[in-house]
Amino acid sequence: MGDTWYKEAVVYAVDVRTFRDSDGDGVGDFPGLTSRIDYLAELGITCLWLLPFYPSPARDNGYDVRDYYGVDPRLGTLEDFEEFLRRAGERGLRVVLDLIMNHTSDEHPWFQAARRDPGSRFRDYYVWAVSPPPPGPGQQSIFPGEEQTVWTFDERAGAHYYHRFYHFQPELRVANPEVRDEIRRVMDFWLSFPIAGFRLDAASHMIEDKGLPGTAPEQGHGVLKELHDFAAARRPGTALIGEADVPLHEAAAFFGDGDQLSMVFNFLLDNDLFLALATGRAEPIARCLGELPAIPEGGQWLNFLRNLDELDLERLSDEERRRVYESFAPDDSMRIFGRGIRRRLAPMLGGDRRRLELAFSLLLTLQGTPVIAYGDEIGMGDDLSLEGRDAVRTPMQWHDAPNAGFSDAPADRLIRPVIDSGPFAYDRVNVAAQQADPDSLLNWMKRAIAARRACPELGRGQDRVLPADRPSVLAHLVDWKGSRLVAVHNLGGEPCTATVEMEGHGTDGLERVFGPAEEEAVGSGHRFRLDAFGYGWFRAGATD
Ligand code: NOJ
Repeated sequence: MGDTWYKEAVVYAVDVRTFRDSDGDGVGDFPGLTSRIDYLAELGITCLWLLPFYPSPARDNGYDVRDYYGVDPRLGTLEDFEEFLRRAGERGLRVVLDLIMNHTSDEHPWFQAARRDPGSRFRDYYVWAVSPPPPGPGQQSIFPGEEQTVWTFDERAGAHYYHRFYHFQPELRVANPEVRDEIRRVMDFWLSFPIAGFRLDAASHMIEDKGLPGTAPEQGHGVLKELHDFAAARRPGTALIGEADVPLHEAAAFFGDGDQLSMVFNFLLDNDLFLALATGRAEPIARCLGELPAIPEGGQWLNFLRNLDELDLERLSDEERRRVYESFAPDDSMRIFGRGIRRRLAPMLGGDRRRLELAFSLLLTLQGTPVIAYGDEIGMGDDLSLEGRDAVRTPMQWHDAPNAGFSDAPADRLIRPVIDSGPFAYDRVNVAAQQADPDSLLNWMKRAIAARRACPELGRGQDRVLPADRPSVLAHLVDWKGSRLVAVHNLGGEPCTATVEMEGHGTDGLERVFGPAEEEAVGSGHRFRLDAFGYGWFRAGATD
């Protein structure tokens, strides 16, 4: 099974472009990120997921790669990247890179060669059709409303090329063994640096049938196994983290027998977690935990509240999604793609500190590894005047000086404007102010992350929901090798007392680990007194 370090990790998703600009050109860069490593180490996170930083026209925030072997010059140089890794390593931070091999940019030399010359070997790197078939069920564009089709005609090539994402992201034909060689070469290159793993962008789409003969990688999940075997041989312990937003019954296959992906983003839990937050009821989370498929021992779910895309609610029923919209995206301008919300966590929760703590406490205690999106630790807001998903990708708010301390460039040269009005403006929400305030969200986050790191059970154990006599209360027990924790969360906006049955897990005293909930033993269980949106984590005595 190898080194499963990722089970105890606390991951932080960061976009180099919007974190800190060191040279005043308005775009964040590696020296800027390096200058903030102490901040990240003090926050307590242990692993950084870097959003794509490769040379790119950046029409999809860098997910349109022009060159897999370099650093976008606006973001620095390979030497800057190495220096960043060195400094991150000194502070004990692991680094995971985004690996985008479902598609390239249309400016990538492979695609340029492919469109120019039908005889080029690069032609077969992509999926072409002179008369494209109508898209099969579930094969429409991922970006409805922004893209009309999955086939775009290229004049030069005299044929249509396939793309599930934007039209400037032609899809690679992963069924072609030469493409798989290219993927290994790219991995090999980056594994020559001390990185800890890759996030496989669009992993589920990489291996899907593109609707034409010869486009389904013959071995299906075998492609992921190939990449796993390659990474494991090249550097044991390399984590492969997959973005696979698939229905419940398809999810487990991405772990294989412990020989495909190490971690899979838990879109299933994320949908139900927001349904629970919207309805004030624990049931959606409890049901989801009960339904999650068994996964192999080395496998792990990667849990998140928000990533830096839309909050994708595709897994909910129409009625459930309507309920979440009603609470968190009442205005049409807050919604996107007919399935999601383009807002940050703090504004969705009305900036309510109690609800923010509740949400993060759930993230840190539910089975899996947590990932925090940059800026959420200080409760940053969104800018709905920006296009699409850029609303949640505004620059990091460091202090209350101009440009929020993100950059010294003139404001009109910033990659995106900083948030400078309303309750989430940088003069109200920023790192410096929160560092100085022991009661700030940032300082609460540090304490919560430290508590999580002191409880390896939370990352390694198996969750079991315990019966509670209040519909708003979720109680779950995590057991790892006989070491047990109980976490209770009140999703509701009223204080309550809930009795939780321990179901044979002992009624001895519980020792408080984190959170304000009060507890006492009663009969065969425990009684918890919880504030509105209250929570508490407790250690139970060890079993024999
Ligand atoms: C998922 C990424 O998170 C998203 O931002 C991007 O647009 C698509 N994959 C395509 O690469």
